[in-house]
Amino acid sequence: ADEKILLKERIRTLLRERDAVLVAHYYVDGDLQDLAEETGGCVSDSLEMARFGRDHPAKTLVVAGVKFMGETAKILSPEKTILMPDLDATCSLDLGCDPAEFTAFCDQHPDRTVVVYANTSAAVKARADWMVTSSIGLDIVRHLHEQGKKILWAPDKHLGSYIQKQTGADMLLWQGSCLVHDEFKGVELDLLKAEHPDAKVLVHPESPANVVDHADVIGSTSQLIAAAVSLPAMKFIVATDNGILHKMRLAAPHKTFIEAPTAGNSATCKSCAHCPWMAMNGLRNLADVLENLSNEIHVDPAVGQQAKVSINRMLDFAA
Ligand code: 13P
Ligand code: SF4
Repeated sequence: ADEKILLKERIRTLLRERDAVLVAHYYVDGDLQDLAEETGGCVSDSLEMARFGRDHPAKTLVVAGVKFMGETAKILSPEKTILMPDLDATCSLDLGCDPAEFTAFCDQHPDRTVVVYANTSAAVKARADWMVTSSIGLDIVRHLHEQGKKILWAPDKHLGSYIQKQTGADMLLWQGSCLVHDEFKGVELDLLKAEHPDAKVLVHPESPANVVDHADVIGSTSQLIAAAVSLPAMKFIVATDNGILHKMRLAAPHKTFIEAPTAGNSATCKSCAHCPWMAMNGLRNLADVLENLSNEIHVDPAVGQQAKVSINRMLDFAA
């Protein structure tokens, strides 16, 4: 505990000395989330992380999350230094969408508007017409559908088919998935709901359809936290990375939050309910990168400039 206090103090000092701000995702360790908030940084979903990093005047952003979040920050602010606690923190959606294969797929379907999820590499974003996050994907696809556009969607098949069902849009789906959300189980969730008939079910749309079908609220991490606060229920079953429970419990301390059931438990399933890449962010490596100004994120400027077009379309739409 003493080491934790010392590390946090060191990080606060280094953030000031380096003119740096900490931007954290809701799935990272609770200590990092708290530090981000108390030092004037932000803890939020992918959309707000991107916007906050772009608009903040600090010269250096430290992104506690996964690679695509650091890359998005760099693409939006190429003049800033972007650091990450661990450069190996990636995402199964990003890994499952190879830029060369994706480009070939797009080339086979030139009649489709290419919409990609934020959880992709800079090169994939550069090939896209639009980038979206989970908080705004539905609205953007609805808008494109109303304009008569046919869509090529990548990489998350669950989020894609959820949006397809909601909007009725013509969507060709890449077959990627998030290894964390893929583990939530519909039948077991149904049984848990029967045990807790007074609970409301909060589901991230990266979850499989038979889990989404049981949801009272479907949304991005920020939207699920907002629902946990605003809904009158006292009990919630939560189907997303359990890192989110930290913020839910802080925001609604008198309410009860239960993790949705997964295929296994932590002994049998490494990625059940917690992302192994988000878990690579800690106090120690955060302090080290601030100390040494190491682990800088670089994006090829030409690729970045092209990717920025698809990201800015989303940010303009959201404005
Ligand atoms: P949001 O926070 O944008 O809902 O994204 C979830 C996610 O996949 C981050 O890994
Ligand atoms: Fe990727 Fe899933 Fe981890 Fe989010 S939780 S970073 S979508 S693997």
